[in-house]
Amino acid sequence: MKKEKIIIANWKMNLSYKESLRYIKDIKSFLVGLKNIKIILCPAFVSLADIQKEIKLKKIELGAQDVFWMEEGAYTGEVSVQSLKELGCKYVIVGHSERRGFLNETDAMINKKIQIVLSHNIIPILCIGENLEQRNDNLTAKILRDQLLEDLKIIDFKNNQQIIIAYEPIWAIGTGHEATTDQVNEAVIIIKSQLAKLYPNKDIEKSFKILYGGSVDENNVESFLDLDVIDGFLVGGASANKVHFIKLLNKIKN
Ligand code: 13P
Repeated sequence: MKKEKIIIANWKMNLSYKESLRYIKDIKSFLVGLKNIKIILCPAFVSLADIQKEIKLKKIELGAQDVFWMEEGAYTGEVSVQSLKELGCKYVIVGHSERRGFLNETDAMINKKIQIVLSHNIIPILCIGENLEQRNDNLTAKILRDQLLEDLKIIDFKNNQQIIIAYEPIWAIGTGHEATTDQVNEAVIIIKSQLAKLYPNKDIEKSFKILYGGSVDENNVESFLDLDVIDGFLVGGASANKVHFIKLLNKIKN
């Protein structure tokens, strides 16, 4: 049997609250019918509660796009991990390049977010990746290693817990220029060897899942399907449009 693929739909800020609900009502029966694909929906915070009501008991999982690193307190505008847990989130995206870029999120902040997420038994989806200049300067390996080193600093987790790492080269996000399978393969080898160094006592294949993200759509997803080093995809733009998302999932399922 083929390995189950993990498909994370990061809707970003593309869908309003009402659009998000319409979307899930329209396609949940299609999503539920999929075999061998684990779907994780990551809507905006404000839509989480009502999306959860729609997908409850339906094999579709819920993730948040971000979290704050403190348990509670005077942190205006932030959302706690406890709230996310109460809303049924099993996953949280941490360190997305859009947050690193637009909101100046640092590796130190990302590190604290991963710690609090794991302490609540939620699975972090850590995003890492180089920008175009860094790739052109042959710095991809260094950037990936450094990000893992900093983001996972002193992070320990139980053997029954998992971390998802999404390789998302910044130059491929939202540009329509996906990475080649060779580029993804090379990056994943670097990521796995760094993880093996950081966690010599862990079974890397079991403790980590590795995804690719960056302009994945229905036209290119098939080219990645034979790439055994990845466990699935983190999809942005193509997941926010139900027609494209269904087409993409149909390509994976066939
Ligand atoms: P796109 O699929 O729109 O390139 O976005 C990828 C991404 O950032 C997912 O987190």
